[in-house]
Amino acid sequence: MASVLAVLTSGRRSGFTAQLLDRAIAGAAAVDGVHVDLLHAHDFNFGPCVSCFACVRRPQGACVLDDDMGRGGAGALFRAIAGANALLIADPVHNWSPTATARLLIERCYPFLWTGALKGMPAATLSCASNQGMQRLARRELCKWLFGLRTRYVGGLAAHVATFERALAEAGEIGAALARAALEDERARRAWDDPECFEHYVRHAPWDPLECYLENLTDGTLDAQASPMVTARGAFANARARELLEEAQAGLERTLDLYRAGDRVAAARALAEASAYWTNATWLEFLADEVIGTRQPQAYRPLPGRGQHADESP
Ligand SMILES: Cc1cc2nc3c(=O)[nH]c(=O)nc-3n(C[C@H](O)[C@H](O)[C@H](O)COP(=O)(O)O)c2cc1C
Repeated sequence: MASVLAVLTSGRRSGFTAQLLDRAIAGAAAVDGVHVDLLHAHDFNFGPCVSCFACVRRPQGACVLDDDMGRGGAGALFRAIAGANALLIADPVHNWSPTATARLLIERCYPFLWTGALKGMPAATLSCASNQGMQRLARRELCKWLFGLRTRYVGGLAAHVATFERALAEAGEIGAALARAALEDERARRAWDDPECFEHYVRHAPWDPLECYLENLTDGTLDAQASPMVTARGAFANARARELLEEAQAGLERTLDLYRAGDRVAAARALAEASAYWTNATWLEFLADEVIGTRQPQAYRPLPGRGQHADESP
C-alpha cells in the first residue's frame, strides 16, 4: 500500500479547512492501493528549530530536540513524514500567510535537507481563507517551502469559503492526483537533482525560484556585475571558495542571458547550477567553521555534474 500523510494544521478540527481535507482524503482513498493517515498537528508537541545544527553535523541522527519532530528521528510526527509516500498539508490562511503551525512543521523538516530523504517526494497543499482572503499568496508561500525541501509539487488549492462548493471538488481532485503520485513513489521514489526540480517548479507550480533567486544574486538589479559574488571574490579568505565564486558568476551570467531571451526553463536549470556553486562557496567561507562546524552534507546541493562538494574536489 502507498501511504499519503495528511496533516491538518488548523486548530478547528471540523472547520472549513478540515472539510476540504476530508474531501481530498476521500479523493485519495478512492485510488486503489492507497491509504491515508490523518494527523492533527495540534495533537503533537513541537516548537521552533533552535539552530544547534546537530542535524547537519550528523545527518542520520536527525533532530536532537526532545519532541515529536525530534528524538533523533524517533519523534512521532517526524517518523510519519519520513515513512510516507506523499505529504498533504491542509492549512487555514492566517495573517495573509500560511499558519505558524505549518511554518514550524516545515522548519523542523530541516534534517531532511541533509539526508535528501524528501527529494522527489510528492506533496500538495490546501489553503483556506474566509475573510479578506490572500489564499493565493498563502498557497505560493507553502509551495516555496515545499520547493525548499525539494519535494515534488503535485498541486495546491487556494480556496475561499465564498466558493466552497468549487473548492471541495478541487480538493478531491488534488487528493486523487496526490494518491496517484504516491503509488509511483511507492514503486521507487524518483529522487531528482536540482536542475530537474527547478524546472518542475517553473513549469508546474504557482511559485518558482527564478525571479526571487535572480533578485537575490544580483542585489535586486538583474545585473550580474551588481552581484554580491563580485564583491565576495575580493573579500573571501578561502581560496577554493573564491574559485567557486568564479564558476557561480559565469553561471549567473548564462542564467541571465537565458532569462532575458525568455527561456525560463533553461534559465531555471542554469540557475540551479549557478546557485549550487554559490552555496558551496558560502559554505566553505562561512558555514564550515564559523556557523555549523562541519563540511557540506553529501545530499545537499552537490556541484553540477560531479555529485560531490567543493571540499572533496581534487
Ligand atoms: C490568527 C488568524 C488570522 C487569520 N487571517 C486571515 C486572513 O489573513 N485572511 C482570511 O481570509 N482569513 C483569515 N483568518 C480566518 C481563517 O482563514 C479561517 O479560520 C479559515 O479560513 C477557515 O479555516 P478553519 O475553519 O480551519 O479555521 C484568520 C484566522 C485567524 C485565527
